[in-house]
Amino acid sequence: MNSAEIRQQFLDFFASRQHQVVPSAPLVVKDDPTLMFINSGMAPFKDYFLGNKPAPYKRVADTQKCLRVSGKHNDLEEVGYDTYHHTMFEMLGNWSFGNYFKKEALAWAWELLTEVYQLPKDRLYVSVFQGDASENLEKDQDAYDIWKTMIPEERILMGSKKDNFWEMGDTGPCGPCSEIHIDLRSEEERAKVPGKDLVNNDHPQVVEIWNNVFMEFNRLADGSLVKLPAQHVDTGMGFERLCMAIQGKQSNYDTDVFQPLIQFVAQEAGVTYGENEKTDIAIRVMSDHIRAIAFAIADGQLPSNNKAGYVIRRILRRAVRYGFTFLDFKKPFLYKLAAVLADQMENVFPELKQQLSFVQRVIEEEENAFLRTLDNGLKRLDALEDKFRENNNTIDGRTAFELYDTFGFPLDLTALIAREKGLQVDEAGFTVEMEQQKNRSRNASATEQSDWVILQPDVANEFIGYDSDTAVSHIVRYRQVKSKSKNEYHLVLDKTPFYAESGGQVGDTGYLISDTEQVEVLDTKKENDLILHITAKLPQNVEAAFRSNVDAERRNFIRKNHSATHLLHAALRKVLGEHVQQRGSLVNEKLLRFDFSHFAKVEEAQLREVEHIVNQRIREAIPLEEQRNVPIAAAKEMGAMALFGEKYGEFVRVIAFDRNHSVELCGGIHVLNTGNIGYFKIVSESSVAAGVRRIEAVTAKVAEDYVQQQLNELHAVREVLATQSNVSGAVQKLQEDNKALQKQLEQHELKQLTGLKDSLVQKARQLDSGVHFVAQQVEVSNADYLKKLAFDMRQSLDNLVLILAAEIDDKPQIAVMLSDNLVSDKHLNASQMVRELAKEIKGGGGGQPFYATAGGKDVAGLQAVPAKALELVTSLLNKNE
Ligand code: ALA
Repeated sequence: MNSAEIRQQFLDFFASRQHQVVPSAPLVVKDDPTLMFINSGMAPFKDYFLGNKPAPYKRVADTQKCLRVSGKHNDLEEVGYDTYHHTMFEMLGNWSFGNYFKKEALAWAWELLTEVYQLPKDRLYVSVFQGDASENLEKDQDAYDIWKTMIPEERILMGSKKDNFWEMGDTGPCGPCSEIHIDLRSEEERAKVPGKDLVNNDHPQVVEIWNNVFMEFNRLADGSLVKLPAQHVDTGMGFERLCMAIQGKQSNYDTDVFQPLIQFVAQEAGVTYGENEKTDIAIRVMSDHIRAIAFAIADGQLPSNNKAGYVIRRILRRAVRYGFTFLDFKKPFLYKLAAVLADQMENVFPELKQQLSFVQRVIEEEENAFLRTLDNGLKRLDALEDKFRENNNTIDGRTAFELYDTFGFPLDLTALIAREKGLQVDEAGFTVEMEQQKNRSRNASATEQSDWVILQPDVANEFIGYDSDTAVSHIVRYRQVKSKSKNEYHLVLDKTPFYAESGGQVGDTGYLISDTEQVEVLDTKKENDLILHITAKLPQNVEAAFRSNVDAERRNFIRKNHSATHLLHAALRKVLGEHVQQRGSLVNEKLLRFDFSHFAKVEEAQLREVEHIVNQRIREAIPLEEQRNVPIAAAKEMGAMALFGEKYGEFVRVIAFDRNHSVELCGGIHVLNTGNIGYFKIVSESSVAAGVRRIEAVTAKVAEDYVQQQLNELHAVREVLATQSNVSGAVQKLQEDNKALQKQLEQHELKQLTGLKDSLVQKARQLDSGVHFVAQQVEVSNADYLKKLAFDMRQSLDNLVLILAAEIDDKPQIAVMLSDNLVSDKHLNASQMVRELAKEIKGGGGGQPFYATAGGKDVAGLQAVPAKALELVTSLLNKNE
């Protein structure tokens, strides 16, 4: 069976048992501060387990893209070294939301594995939770008894909390679990050591393939467990491991899931996979990491310097580094690998193929940047090599940390380079530096969040803000969040008009008003499906009825900008082409910012056309067509643009302004008629990342003010120019006049300079030694002319000692010029002379032996310079005779 068939059989098996098959959610998690990436099949369904909202189906199955590279589940450092951990992997799962429980789940798991996939029963082991006294949890006798009916008791193993109690994160839904493991070793090895001794022991051929979690608890921030309102089933089967087992391979990388990638990397590197442990690891790292990188970017996460973006950047760098060090890839390579992956995954996760050129561009740019950084880091190491040799042939901890922090060199890379140079690394010193930095950032960001105080359990947190900006509300739960810089409260209401920040639109602000008090809502945010009203204080009476009022004026500016964003998106696609995809957006009361994929600067004429189309749509006064709860298929049929990386439910909201022009899936707040936007003006166009452009624009009164301000400036210029028409012509003429005048002035000054030179030549004194001596205070307008005068004099007189003194820009200056023979034969030195003379003007200077200058502070001292110069020259000539 190939991997596509294995996947399909899983989905078909559960579909025929009344499970709704749903698509994978995007890898990147939005609106959940406890999770950056989907780390398990259940994460997208967290709210159903917690009872925050009702599940649309009681039974669901899917294959979910997962990433375990941060937080509680982090396998990153294992990847490449072993054969069965991955950054991105597919988790096949089936779920019961308050429907069936242990009996059905375990029986189906057993049936699928042994009858459909026909895995040999005598190679399978199962594990059951043994209980935990410290948590007051009992042994999972039910699971044990169910297994007993299907499998000999000696194959049922008891497991501790570590292995058999599954938790999504530090807080959230959790419960006892029962795992299924498979022993893929040869008969010979199996005869030597029984498989059950190797379960959960990191043996590459005795691995867990399926976990059945029985969700019964919620872990709170204080560490305690509370019972969930209902019991659920959450299962997860590692797809790549399942393929290994069914295809009879020794490693996930030997299956058809990875082989196309492995072979492509090996071929490009000119090596054979399976011949050398070091290059094999590097090939596995690259083949694995490209999946995480490419799908994260396709799902909307660009590499960057913080949070989720930084995790992706680190994975990418890890891949580049292994390729660079062990496979000699000195040029970008991963972006090519992305194309192989896109072809391979086209039928399961088409989002990659659809955006391939964009994804490749982002990866290539990142690779280039990191290869440059690597190169700089290597240079830095070279430059410090002598220092390391003096330091006992050791790279000190601080430098190792600097390489890590600034140049992205992980410790193992530094150690590797060090070994090649016969050096070692102070690893303990590195760890100290690392800890210090961690402490610094921990202190900066430490926040304390209380558990929810529940006032009314199970009350829906209904959003009525599409229809109204006011409501009568009650607080159903609240919590406090404290950190060094803030102390705030999160209030959840039974019913609210406040829009929580999402889809680029900022959260609403406003007031909660009861009979006795008024509490300001500073912002509104989402956490999963909870709408959090953020306040600086807790109402004294949290049980009161509140009139909740959104700041309607602010919201009206926001809605204009949001609708204008849709019109802009449509206009860009019309003018630039269908490749334009939204990559990010911000909509607030001041402006709209729209990031989109496009590979070149948007030309001025194109911008004007886009602006024109948007304004035309505004003038057409197109009414809003809003449809809620449209089945997603119907929405797509209407031509609705769905954003990559957004997770949409079965039912969506569709916003159209003329179905032939702009149809989008959107949860935001809009104008009822495009005419309300009033006016649209683009204020800037720029680049944000490889292949991503940004347009910022304003609407309505803000746009009017913007244009007025530009006009005011123009009026001011007109006034100064005293012209009403053709301002640019007038400015151009001014510039030309100015240039011509400057030229005339220059010619005039040069003429004067020639006259000055002639008169100085006349004034030259012949000293006894045959030296032509000139020392004179002169009038010139800048230092260049002083220099020119000195050099012209040198052309006109031989045996010359020239001393010029001048006041330039209110400061005294002296120049000394000598003919070459006086330097070589008479041992005069202009630098020394100028320094001596500069004393007269309270200054200093220097230069070359034949020409030197000095500046000073005392203009009045200039007039003494000629006499002083004669004295100096006479004495020097006498001395040097
Ligand atoms: N949520 C369970 C896991 O990830 C199935 O292992």
